[in-house]
Amino acid sequence: MIDLSTNYLGLKLLNPIVVSASPLTEKLENCARLEDAGASAIVMYSLMEEQIEAESENIDNALEYGANSYAESTSYLPDMQKFHIGPDRYLELLHKGKASVSIPVIASLNGRSPGGWVRYSEYMEQAGADALELNIFDVASDPDVSASDLETRYCNIVRAIRKSVRIPLAVKLGPYFTSCANFAKRLSDAGADGIVIFNRFYQPDFDLEEMEVTPNLVLSSPHELRLRLHWAAILYHQVETYIAITGGVHDSSDVLKCMMAGAHVTMMTSALLRYGIEHTGVVLAGIERWMEEHEYASIRQMRGAMSMVNIENPAAFLRGNYLKTLGSYTWREPGTEMAF
Ligand SMILES: Cc1cc2nc3c(=O)[nH]c(=O)nc-3n(C[C@H](O)[C@H](O)[C@H](O)COP(=O)(O)O)c2cc1C
Repeated sequence: MIDLSTNYLGLKLLNPIVVSASPLTEKLENCARLEDAGASAIVMYSLMEEQIEAESENIDNALEYGANSYAESTSYLPDMQKFHIGPDRYLELLHKGKASVSIPVIASLNGRSPGGWVRYSEYMEQAGADALELNIFDVASDPDVSASDLETRYCNIVRAIRKSVRIPLAVKLGPYFTSCANFAKRLSDAGADGIVIFNRFYQPDFDLEEMEVTPNLVLSSPHELRLRLHWAAILYHQVETYIAITGGVHDSSDVLKCMMAGAHVTMMTSALLRYGIEHTGVVLAGIERWMEEHEYASIRQMRGAMSMVNIENPAAFLRGNYLKTLGSYTWREPGTEMAF
């Protein structure tokens, strides 16, 4: 009997496939469908700092100037009105979603600055969330703000949330930190139980005809996994934290690689949006098949087997790999032979 169980943030999970935050969890009925398909936990889509602040600003303005000021006061945030649903409905959906399944449900809060919105972590806990995922999404564009200042600001948000809730807390972060390992450690010291690596950054495109900068969401491809594998393998055993990998997990071999790197769970969105919720079952079956063929009895047995501390040549994850990779390329004149 193969044991696929794992532990993430102190939650005992049946297998390492968690559904990451996405529009899939905007519909209540999808929670049960995701559980039936085999997901071991669900992360709700995110409630945004801007949504919370826009709502409280609307209430303040409505109280102060009357209902007619509502449209005007929100005009600077036109998208907020069509973006997901408001904080109250979020909490209601979270509560109902949690009641509809027996697997853990993780709420997601998305922001970038310390502020009143952080109290929503308490509301999420009260609504029944088993854990909280804090998505810190920001673009460090201010030349006067140093990397260290920014990291301190993020750690302060984590500290504030840690103080207000008892449920486990994971931080979803981007890969663009100068000293990623140090930042992971600082987050852990600030009270985060785990990290989710990594946010995908959705760079806008340029529309040359309309002279507009336009949003452009492209689903992930499996090659994006490498960055995540690399960092999970480096962080494993170096930083005391649970590790979830999100970004480029599409099939069973991707999940197995993540486990070998040292992750506790993998998260999927793009693959489920592309192939459907039932794809979870296909991936699980593939994992079991591979483990059987390779005589692994449990996920625990393979976790971290290919991490930096466990492989023979740790340089494979460091500068040594860079040199070797560059040296491995042979250029041929186009037209003489296949060149790519
Ligand atoms: C349409 C869409 C909506 C998403 N919404 C959220 C969100 O609300 N909060 C969040 O933290 N991540 C969100 N994500 C990011 C995913 O949770 C995930 O981290 C990312 O897509 C990488 O994983 P993947 O390669 O499995 O897609 C969204 C992704 C997509 C494609």
